[in-house]
Amino acid sequence: MTKTITGFSKLSKEEKIDWLVNTFFTDAQSAKNTLNQYTNSDKKLQELHDDFIENTISNYYLPYGVAPNFVINGKEYAVPMVTEESSVVAAASLVAKFWSTRGGFKAEVLSTKKIGQVHFMFDGDFDELQDYFDTNKNRLFEVTEAITKNMRKRGGGILDIELRNKTSELKNYYQLHVTFDTQDSMGANFINSCLEAIANEFKNDSIQVVMSILSNYVPECIVRAEVSCKVEELYHENPELYAQKFEQAVQIANVEPHRAVTHNKGIMNGIDAVVIATGNDFRAVESGAHAYASRSGTYRSLTNCEIKNGIFKFWIEISLALGTVGGLTALHPLAKLSLQLLQNPSAKELMKIVAVAGLAQNFAALRALTTTGIQHGHMKMHLSNIIKQLGASESETTNLLNHFADKQVSHSAVVEAYNNLKQ
Ligand code: MEV
Repeated sequence: MTKTITGFSKLSKEEKIDWLVNTFFTDAQSAKNTLNQYTNSDKKLQELHDDFIENTISNYYLPYGVAPNFVINGKEYAVPMVTEESSVVAAASLVAKFWSTRGGFKAEVLSTKKIGQVHFMFDGDFDELQDYFDTNKNRLFEVTEAITKNMRKRGGGILDIELRNKTSELKNYYQLHVTFDTQDSMGANFINSCLEAIANEFKNDSIQVVMSILSNYVPECIVRAEVSCKVEELYHENPELYAQKFEQAVQIANVEPHRAVTHNKGIMNGIDAVVIATGNDFRAVESGAHAYASRSGTYRSLTNCEIKNGIFKFWIEISLALGTVGGLTALHPLAKLSLQLLQNPSAKELMKIVAVAGLAQNFAALRALTTTGIQHGHMKMHLSNIIKQLGASESETTNLLNHFADKQVSHSAVVEAYNNLKQ
């Protein structure tokens, strides 16, 4: 039987599900039940989610957690986090509490410029092209007036349009490099609409526009977040050694890309969780952040650490293009709720909160890695999950937790200990 279909998108949701379960599953009913189990019984709410994308057949849940006790620039926050990874929210909560008694996090937005480009080919004299651009530059602003009107009222809009000669990298390749201020919106639609209007006006018989699109590389949309305290306030049995190993761990991630990728992945554990909870585009944030981590030509750590005159300082500097209005932030009830929980931040405030979540996550990871090792905490969680899966009673659970307090956890070892208990 063929497993391809024409006109899938035209089928009703029920017909889509029927075709899929009958074509790809041996137990069609069970697959159908699972899909239906995750479909919301509130018809309106389900329709809202159906319309976010195409060919929706169910919902895919991720846990929505909260890390309380963050203090950022003196203001208190409970931070919403959506992630499937255990320990991320616990780590954020512990670190938030830890730094709340040491002055909290300090954060500042360094710049908020966003970028879009019209990529085009021109097989002629550059001076002529430059003249054509100079003559038409004002007109390029004018053709976006209708699109930028509201944004300009809010203090944003197009900042500049530049002609860039890229022919040393690719024959005949030029671009209009456009910078934007999109205020509290992420601004993807706004930027792309402006670019297409500009491209339409700019093209002529000798200018072949290839494409017009925003860039998710935003090295001028930067936020910095920091924590610091006296080394002895790190409350560890040997704070000097601890601080030194911590600093070395960051230095290693600065010079060794293999480590840097994992180091930054841990940072993104915190960042993505808040970005998703607030209805922002985590793929845009991810690609932009990794490009920013490579801006020196080598992939490096997004965080830095310094120990000077007995003061431990740890900070992150990261590019983040975020919005608190428009897009999913207005549509998804939980994204809206997240923003309310964060006390309705501006995009700049959200940049600070998200950067702090990344820094906190990295602090937790490096603290664990340079002391007990990462598996210590993970294995504790793993143990609880296995015990739950086995269906252990309360007293059996306590017994097993005690048993494994000083023993290596593995699935088979837990099953064996459980079976012994049962006998
Ligand atoms: C796991 O999701 C993240 C870590 O690997 C980050 C790191 O190694 O720094 C623990």
